[in-house]
Amino acid sequence: MLGKQELIDKLTGIRSSRRSYYSELNAMVEELQKKNKQLEVINQLTQIHVEKSWEEVSIYLASQLSKVLSFDRFLLTLIDGSDLYFYISDPCGEDWSCRLVKRFYQLGATVTTAEFKKLLKQEIVDHYGTSVCLQNQTGKIYGFLTLLNREKVKYPPEEFQFYLKIGEHVRISIENIYLYKDVSEKVKIEAQLVQSAKMAAIGEMAAGVAHELNSPLTAILGNVQLLMRQIKEERPQKMLTDIYQCGLRSKKIIQNLLAFSRQEEYQFEKLELSGLVEDVLGLVGYQLTVSGISIHKEIDSSVPPVRGSRHQIEQVLINLLLNAKDAVQETSDPEIIIGTGQTTLEGQSYAMLFVQDNGIGMDKEQMDQIFNPFYTTKSKMKGTGLGLSVSLGIVESHGGKLLVDSKINEYSKFSLLLPILTDEGDD
Ligand SMILES: Nc1ncnc2c1ncn2[C@@H]1O[C@H](COP(=O)(O)OP(=O)(O)OP(=O)(O)O)[C@@H](O)[C@H]1O
Ligand SMILES: [Mg+2]
Repeated sequence: MLGKQELIDKLTGIRSSRRSYYSELNAMVEELQKKNKQLEVINQLTQIHVEKSWEEVSIYLASQLSKVLSFDRFLLTLIDGSDLYFYISDPCGEDWSCRLVKRFYQLGATVTTAEFKKLLKQEIVDHYGTSVCLQNQTGKIYGFLTLLNREKVKYPPEEFQFYLKIGEHVRISIENIYLYKDVSEKVKIEAQLVQSAKMAAIGEMAAGVAHELNSPLTAILGNVQLLMRQIKEERPQKMLTDIYQCGLRSKKIIQNLLAFSRQEEYQFEKLELSGLVEDVLGLVGYQLTVSGISIHKEIDSSVPPVRGSRHQIEQVLINLLLNAKDAVQETSDPEIIIGTGQTTLEGQSYAMLFVQDNGIGMDKEQMDQIFNPFYTTKSKMKGTGLGLSVSLGIVESHGGKLLVDSKINEYSKFSLLLPILTDEGDD
C-alpha cells in the first residue's frame, strides 16, 4: 500500500513535503499563467496593423511588452542607410507616448549589435538598454528593439529567451509594414501619374477647343461693337451690350484655358519686382480705385532681381488683384496692399511679391481647394475658377511658390515667391 504522501507525489509529480506542496503548486500555476500571458502577447504582436505609423508601432510594442516584462522606456530603432530613427516610447499615465529622434551616423554596410550598443550609450546616456536585433531574410540587421531601464537590470534567462522570441515575431510584422508602405507608395505614385496624364489630356483638349473658338469669337466681338455704334435704340443697345459682355467673358475663359494648357511660349528675362508692381497697377489700378478700394504700396527697394517671364508674372499679379477686388466687395473700408519683400524658405532665398486684402477671407477647407482648376465660389458669370490654378502653374514653372494665408472675414494674403537670381543666372 502506498503512503498518502507518496500518492500525492505520484499524482502531482511534485516531490515535496506537505508544507511546501501548496506553495509549489502556486508557483506552478503562476508560471503557467505567465506562459499564457506571454503566448497572448506573442499572438498580439503578430497582429500589428500594417497601416500603423512607426510611432504607433513603437507604442503598441511598448504597451504589449509591458504586460510581461518590466522596463522604464521602450525603443524601436530602424536603420535606413546611414540614418537611424529612434522611436522612443515613454509611459504617460495609462498610455504611452512616442517621439522620434533622427540621427545620422557614418555606418558601415551592416550595423552589428555591439556597434548599436555603443551608439545607444551615446544617444541615451542615463539608461541601460537590453536589445534584440531585427534581421531580414538575408541576415541584414535593419533595426533593434530595446528595453530601457534607469538601473542596470539582468533579466532572468527564460525572460530573455522570451524577449528574443518576441524579436522574431515582431520582425515579420515589421517586414509586412515595410512591404505595405512600399506598395502603397507605388500605388500613390501611379495615381499621381494617372492624374497628371489626365490633366495633360484635358489641357490639350482645352487648348484645341480654345483655338477653335478664338477666331469666331473675335468676329462676334468685332461685329457686336460695330452694331453697338450703329444702333442707338435703348432696348437693342442693352441686348448688344449683353452679347458683348458675354463675349468678353468667353474670351477671358479661352485665354485662361490657353495659359492653363501652357501652349503659349514666354521669354524669360531679368525682372525688377518694384517695376512689375508699377506696371500692373498701371493696367488694373484704375479699375480698382474707381470701385472705391484704397491701394497701398509697400515696396522694399532692396529686393534683388529675379528671372522670369514679365508677361506671366504680371498675369499672376493681375489674377491676385482681381481676386482681392472681388473679396473686398462687401467690406466697408476696402483696402488692398501690394508689395515686395524678401524671405527664406527651406534654406532657399526668395524675392516676394504679395497682395493682401481686408475682404471675406477663407477657412482652411477652402484654402485647400482654391488652387484646383475650376474651383470657384463666385457666381457663374463672374468666376471660372481658373485664375489661381493658372497662377500656380506659372509660379511653379519659375521654380517659385504661391502661398496663401487667410482668416475668415478678416484678410487674405497671397505671396508669390521667386528664387533670387544668382550671378551665374544673371543676364
Ligand atoms: N483674396 C481672396 N479672398 C478670399 N477668397 C479668395 C481670394 N482669392 C481667391 N479666393 C477664393 O478662391 C477661389 C478660386 O480663385 P480663382 O482665382 O482660381 O478663381 P475665381 O476668381 O473664382 O475665377 P477666375 O479667376 O477664373 O475668374 C475664389 O472663387 C475664391 O473663393
Ligand atoms: Mg480669380
